[in-house]
Amino acid sequence: MIILIGSEKGGVGKSTLATNLAVTLVLRNSDIVLVDADRQSTSANWTQDRKSTGKAQVQCVRQYDDIENTIADLNTRYKYVIVDCQGRDSKELRTGLMVADKLIIPCRPSQPDLDTIPVMLNTISMARRINSKLEAYCVLTMCSTNPKVNEVADSIAFLSRYQDLKLVETHISDRKVYRDAISEGLSVIEKGDTKTSAEIIGILNEVLNHG
Ligand SMILES: Nc1ncnc2c1ncn2[C@@H]1O[C@H](COP(=O)(O)OP(=O)(O)O)[C@@H](O)[C@H]1O
Ligand SMILES: [Mg+2]
Repeated sequence: MIILIGSEKGGVGKSTLATNLAVTLVLRNSDIVLVDADRQSTSANWTQDRKSTGKAQVQCVRQYDDIENTIADLNTRYKYVIVDCQGRDSKELRTGLMVADKLIIPCRPSQPDLDTIPVMLNTISMARRINSKLEAYCVLTMCSTNPKVNEVADSIAFLSRYQDLKLVETHISDRKVYRDAISEGLSVIEKGDTKTSAEIIGILNEVLNHG
């Protein structure tokens, strides 16, 4: 199964989600490969940092430009292929969508970020003409932990207009442990943080069990 993580925006938490989902699958003894399709190399650097942690390693392949054939081939050899795409309408995103089973779009609960969703939906509907199995999910990321902030409720209302996109019910909160984990080659589960672990597990289960 090819799970592509992509968005029109950078810095929304794509690599954070990709690396955390990858570890969660490794901890389930799943056969998984992480593909770093972003020249910023966050995921590839994270797998390098991970080597000195003593934790189970995550296989990582770097692939840029046209990634379609590479990820299709990896999909015959691994149960899960997690692709970390770059933050714009890139060749990697477009070619990846030709063969992906699932696209997860991380999106912050703010209007400029939400405004990129209709553009992504155009890209998705073009891809579906060739790849009809493609399912698209949106995950709200970096959500404020302050209960007085109602951006999440506003974002849910905005996103509910789009039938072609499944909004994942579990959101990712804005917590320092996400930054600490990625800089240490770890996942939030390995940091022993209960709240953020539950977020990542919840998202993975929703995405795997849907459709
Ligand atoms: N949920 C979160 N809470 C706190 N910091 C986060 C969270 N998600 C990402 N970050 C931090 O924000 C920055 C951008 O995240 P990253 O995953 O690299 O985004 P992208 O891959 O979309 O560019 C990084 O410094 C990362 O550690
Ligand atoms: Mg990234």
